[in-house]
Amino acid sequence: MSDVKLKGQTALITGADSGIGKGIALKMAASGAAIIVNYHSNKEAAEEVAAQITAAGSSAIVYQANVGDEKEVQEMFKQAISHFGTIDILVNNAGLQQDAAFVDMSLDQWNKVINVNLTGQFLCAREAVREFIRRGARPEISKALGKIICISSVHEVIPWAGHANYAASKGGILMLMKSMAQELGELKIRINSIAPGAIKTPINRPAWETPEAEEKLLKLIPYKRVGETEDIGNAAVWLASDDSDYIHGTSLFIDGGMTCYPGFAANG
Ligand code: BGC
Repeated sequence: MSDVKLKGQTALITGADSGIGKGIALKMAASGAAIIVNYHSNKEAAEEVAAQITAAGSSAIVYQANVGDEKEVQEMFKQAISHFGTIDILVNNAGLQQDAAFVDMSLDQWNKVINVNLTGQFLCAREAVREFIRRGARPEISKALGKIICISSVHEVIPWAGHANYAASKGGILMLMKSMAQELGELKIRINSIAPGAIKTPINRPAWETPEAEEKLLKLIPYKRVGETEDIGNAAVWLASDDSDYIHGTSLFIDGGMTCYPGFAANG
């Protein structure tokens, strides 16, 4: 293990059985962190992530919980803390899409997305903050009392037709993150977001899996490549480490320039 910036720290990563969460789990583990691989329904995939981590010489456990359920989240933190002693890093990653034209969107589709994507981040962050305060500072481990990384999206600023529930949840994450940062900074709890653009994961498979779809998607990306989960994992390690200790209350866009609105390059 060459780069162990997170040595001695424990990271709870929600939705770590696939996609961006998995990418972050593998990178944080490679940087020395012990990992709680939270998952909702795919136990086998979560166990595969944990197995990869332990085979590479770090520690991991899997834990099933719906992040939108208060009791399940509280129990998950209790179990994780009793296993590893404490939690240093929370990565609020679990999220989903339930797309529909606005006129057809059901209340169920609305509630499900807000519950998992936004309420889930609130519930997990609240438990993490309680644990950081209970445990107290460990300056030999990290300058911060604890770190929270909220996984948002370019859609915290880019409106998205046909995805009003999803864009609303991501816009909500932006203000949740900033309000927490404003309130909790004096405790040395460091809170930021990562706002990914199009990253190759199961959530957006139809947008990149055929050459035609990929070509269309690339029109939205000035850097002309679709992102990989490692792009997010590398940044998450840095954002959780003391190397970024003065970064607080900000959203880091990792999107190949999608938020430069390339549609205006030859328009407007
Ligand atoms: C969505 C993806 C989409 C990307 C860029 C992400 O937040 O989950 O489906 O490809 O934003 O639009």
